[in-house]
Amino acid sequence: MSIILGIESSCDDTSAAVIADGVLKSNVIASQKVHEMYGGVVPELASRAHQQNILPVVSEAMRQAGISKDQLTAIAYTRGPGLLGSLLVGTSFAKGLAIGLNIPLIDVNHLAAHALSHFVKETPDDEVPEFPYMCLLISGGNSQIILVKSATEMEIVGKTIDDAAGEAFDKCAKVMGLPYPGGPHIDRLAAEGNPDAFHFARPNIPGLDYSFSGLKTSFLYTLRNGLAENPDFIEENKADLAASLQKAIIDILLKKLEKAVKIYHPRQIAIGGGVSANSGVRNAIAQFCKKRHIQAWIPKRSFTTDNAAMVAIAGTMRFDENYKSDLGLPPYSKTTI
Ligand code: KG4
Repeated sequence: MSIILGIESSCDDTSAAVIADGVLKSNVIASQKVHEMYGGVVPELASRAHQQNILPVVSEAMRQAGISKDQLTAIAYTRGPGLLGSLLVGTSFAKGLAIGLNIPLIDVNHLAAHALSHFVKETPDDEVPEFPYMCLLISGGNSQIILVKSATEMEIVGKTIDDAAGEAFDKCAKVMGLPYPGGPHIDRLAAEGNPDAFHFARPNIPGLDYSFSGLKTSFLYTLRNGLAENPDFIEENKADLAASLQKAIIDILLKKLEKAVKIYHPRQIAIGGGVSANSGVRNAIAQFCKKRHIQAWIPKRSFTTDNAAMVAIAGTMRFDENYKSDLGLPPYSKTTI
């Protein structure tokens, strides 16, 4: 029996969630619009916005859950990786609350939380994966293939050597003149375009690691050459460009996943992270798994981007193993799982 408050502040979303006895009671997210005009997250502005948002977001999560502070069993929070200034806000808040209420504090790794997001139950009967499973974690900062052996034991077997899949979406969208973050805009445009209209370079690197920088350059050259001949090239081809870009990103993701499946023979594959909200990615993974008789775990869209529900469930799983953090733990900006 536990009632865990989760707090997430690793990048530009301030979020708080309550999980009671393993079931989600609330998940409140305040996304920061201030970064849109800069075409990317400005760390200093993100920390300031977290500072403004954190108290109202936590209060709202508690209100929606119908839980009072003195009913909480423990506080789980994202310790890292992420933007240090942003992490400091959530970390300090979580520590202060845990000390004030005299309850345990549980630090959670943001990437592990994404990989465990499939354990968030909205009703007690919701199905969850069985350990071990393979997770394709694709977000704005990471592209990894992870073997999830338990709630606390994970092995990264492939990762990006340059950009993450989300960065590939966002940076290519930016050069097309689309707002930040570009991933959802590419997703929408791609639905109306021809994925075979343009061909962009695919990387050829050994092992299970990803690379997206060559694709980005190839995309940029296509735009540059097209614009040299026709100033309206982007406007006239935006749906085809988006569909062809999305297809290239999916091809790159699946090629390494297929390699990983041949090595590790997983019976279940889960996807997580912001890019797992992409319609093309979701369909492709579902088909990939179906063809190979692998069970696919595709998260609800609300659990793909940064959210505290995944932090609360990862914290619950650690709490169930009697884990408790030292109050002196500092946040970290970079780490593996
Ligand atoms: O996991 P996440 O919220 O946080 C970070 O890693 O920062 O992922 C954000 C990323 C962004 O790159 C965004 O463009 C991408 O997820 N994203 C999408 C979609 N929704 C969010 N990419 C493609 N299609 C989408 N529908």
